Amino acid sequence: MSSIPLLCSIDAVPPSADFGVAAAAAMAEICAGLMQERAEVSPKYFYDPLGSKLFEAITHLPEYYPTRTERGIFERHAAEIARSVGPGSTLIDLGAGNCEKAKRLFPALRPEHYVAVDVSTEFLHDALNRMRSLFPAIDMQALGLDFSAGLTLPHSVSQEQRLFFYPGSSIGNFTPEAALAMLCDLRRLCGDTGGVLIGVDLVKPAAILEPAYDDSLGVTAAFNLNLLNHLNRLIKTQFNPGDWQHRALFNAPQSRIEMHLEARRDLCITLPGGVRRFARGERIHTESSYKYELLQFRALLVKAGFRKINAWTDERHWFAVCHASI
Ligand code: AVJ
Repeated sequence: MSSIPLLCSIDAVPPSADFGVAAAAAMAEICAGLMQERAEVSPKYFYDPLGSKLFEAITHLPEYYPTRTERGIFERHAAEIARSVGPGSTLIDLGAGNCEKAKRLFPALRPEHYVAVDVSTEFLHDALNRMRSLFPAIDMQALGLDFSAGLTLPHSVSQEQRLFFYPGSSIGNFTPEAALAMLCDLRRLCGDTGGVLIGVDLVKPAAILEPAYDDSLGVTAAFNLNLLNHLNRLIKTQFNPGDWQHRALFNAPQSRIEMHLEARRDLCITLPGGVRRFARGERIHTESSYKYELLQFRALLVKAGFRKINAWTDERHWFAVCHASI
């Protein structure tokens, strides 16, 4: 008799039990970060539906040069990049989103398979269906994976000529140590025939970097502040974005842009695990975006075990695209 309620509660676990576990883990991670003396939240929490739209808007801002600079490099050097990669690859798009970047590369790269990977599969399926009708000859699959803590691929992904596509300087969100670990993972998943095609933002004066992360329209500020609205839904807090100010600064010794949210007055925030006070001027670190010298980044690729490296850049040397293979 006494086991019946227990059985009932097991039965009551919804089919999406995994989601409950993931949500609890996210809550624990976020609370732990906020309770630290130097509060921090992972930048992965920027990307709720509004956050994804704000990021898309950022890529159109005059100050935000990375997206259009990278696109220019891919356009200008498409033939050479395609020669370096070779035809018939299994293109694995890490953070595919709307699949726009891969779409532009298809005519030159002529992959055999396309694997679109993203944390949010919400938009991925629609995007992939559009891709399927544009390129009916290419075999495609969507994978919903959070690879921020390591990448494992299902057996359905061909082992032949894997090309990991990681554009947009997304690798800049990792510390150099974590970036190396990620590249080592990719190197392992490449086998003897694979490679990576990766975009990386380069070091440049703070006078160019800082406005790219603190634009005059305030879109990046909204993107940063929207994190608080997302947290309010995720962990049931009552952050008021109006109590916080967007900050972006280039930390030259660490070679990274840092984004923070700074308290405009003394605040007291109730979290699931307790109360967190913020003194006026105190900050929550929300993002680091590392900038590399091209030579440093090449060295990182070599350290990860890649031997052949080709790199392309723009006239101003603001951004680089690297193809690294075995
Ligand atoms: C998506 C991580 C490449 O660091 O430039 C843009 C995110 N944050 N503006 C970057 C971002 C603020 C972007 N990455």
